[in-house]
Amino acid sequence: MSDLEAVIYEKNDDIAYITLNRPQVLNVYNVRMRDELYQVLGAIKDDPTVLVAILKGNGEKAFCAGADLSEFLTAPSPTAARQVRWERDVWGLFLSIPQPVIAALHGYVLGSGIEMALCCDIRIASEEAQFGLPEVGLGIIPAAGATQTLPRAVGRARALEIMLIGDRIDAKRALDIGLVNQVVPRNELLSAAESIARKIVSFDFRAVQSAKQAVMRGLNMPLSEGLEIERNLASLLRHKKRSSE
Ligand code: COA
Repeated sequence: MSDLEAVIYEKNDDIAYITLNRPQVLNVYNVRMRDELYQVLGAIKDDPTVLVAILKGNGEKAFCAGADLSEFLTAPSPTAARQVRWERDVWGLFLSIPQPVIAALHGYVLGSGIEMALCCDIRIASEEAQFGLPEVGLGIIPAAGATQTLPRAVGRARALEIMLIGDRIDAKRALDIGLVNQVVPRNELLSAAESIARKIVSFDFRAVQSAKQAVMRGLNMPLSEGLEIERNLASLLRHKKRSSE
């Protein structure tokens, strides 16, 4: 992968690491980061040797403090700045990755930071992490999926509380409402994510990916159709295993 700057991509055995890399500005999301994430996520999706990915932020202060407001200010309008972002469906790509993705969240997790975390399957936060969606206070709305992914993760009332009131919530509250799966001390964040990744890697990757696919597809369907998907995937998995024996 060539000329990455806003994102670092590394691979260690079966685990891929994606690191948001603009620590001087709290890893805020700009067009360059969007393009690089698009490249990296596409590579992961197409790489059968990657079994799990970990998304994390570089630097001490933030996983990601949201959209780069300096780009917003230099564009003709916030709407125009957003239009540029929509030209590549990085979020659609993110949500379509077959491998599990684990988010390791520390410091500020704001705006697009929460939205990226919500594209991941398992979220681990450090004790000092702070979460918030400041968009409505800036006269815009979240547009990297949070209006849809947040209520699916924490329910309508809690999602609207975070979105409409705009107050930041701490890691303990994020755990209480199900926004994150686990809270750990800052110095254990990466090892906690890696320990989950290694456990997943130890399982049959076809079973892992089928389970993820059943959940992701079923979430947008009535129960009866979701159960049908589950039946089909279970039978496909049995068939694949028999033919590889
Ligand atoms: N866009 C562009 N630059 C940003 C930024 C953003 N959203 N958030 C922070 N930065 C930059 C700051 O300008 C500063 O750069 P500088 O050192 O060149 O001045 C650097 O990141 C560090 O931020 P700073 O504000 O000094 O850190 P802090 O610890 O005092 O405050 C925050 C941290 C997150 C509370 C504060 O930066 C903030 O409120 N940022 C905006 C969050 C936001 O509204 N995001 C947009 C969501 S759509």
